[in-house]
Amino acid sequence: SSSGNGFPNFRRKPVIIIVVGMAGSGKTTLMHRLVAHTHIKNIRGYVMNLDPAVMTLPYGSNIDIRDTVKYKEVMKQFNLGPNGGILTSMNLFATKFDEVISVIERRADQLDYVLVDTPGQIEIFTWSASGAIITEAFASTFPTVVAYVVDTPRSEDPTTFMSNMLYACSILYKTRLPLILTFNKVDVAAHQFALEWMEDFEAFQAAASSDQSYTSTLTQSLSLVLDEFYNNLKSVGVSAVSGAGMEDFFKAVEASADEYMDTY
Ligand code: GTP
Repeated sequence: SSSGNGFPNFRRKPVIIIVVGMAGSGKTTLMHRLVAHTHIKNIRGYVMNLDPAVMTLPYGSNIDIRDTVKYKEVMKQFNLGPNGGILTSMNLFATKFDEVISVIERRADQLDYVLVDTPGQIEIFTWSASGAIITEAFASTFPTVVAYVVDTPRSEDPTTFMSNMLYACSILYKTRLPLILTFNKVDVAAHQFALEWMEDFEAFQAAASSDQSYTSTLTQSLSLVLDEFYNNLKSVGVSAVSGAGMEDFFKAVEASADEYMDTY
């Protein structure tokens, strides 16, 4: 489909997949699984690491912030703590991001996807100026989608589920990019309950009402707000451990990229 976004060099490929998730959601394990899947299926992909502080990655990356910015030296030079160090490293990298985009553009014909791993502390990417600059640089050059990784077993609690969905909602509104709710760890707990709650807010309210906590009235009101949010996204169930759901994940990415080409 044609794109009316006004960017003359805009192409359909590669699709940029920005992977974000709360600590413990299994983001790193899932990245590993996604990379392995692309290898097995001969899907042509690039892998980018945007976490300057990660010690070792379980998968190989083509573009790595650590090659450009030395996190420990940044901390020393600017007298920063760990979070400030990560943030400043990302700022430094963001100033050179046009070069990163050029590298991908030169390879565009040979690439279907670029899988982008983000720092373990989600807010460092989602609520920073450099995160916004990087996201914008991607999105003005390639179709770009966000995969928000959810810890499914932990989200079986209605209040936790809602907090998680509100966070995802805030990312959707901040990035304005197609969002794929990626329910991970379905080998431990199927994500069926989440689909039901998203489809029928009364089912969610019934589950939430069994929780006697003081927030339950608020929870019920917010579930109405989220109803609109759910209409604007895709959900898939995956397991980084068993490999379940990989095809579904890439189907959702393709559908989101089509949506991107039509919308932006
Ligand atoms: P970073 O913040 O990027 O370091 O990663 P993370 O904390 O989001 O997740 P990590 O990949 O380190 O996984 C957290 C824990 O969840 C680990 O113990 C993983 O083995 C486990 N885990 C990840 N994915 C799955 C899954 O699909 N199924 C099960 N059962 N466990 C998983």
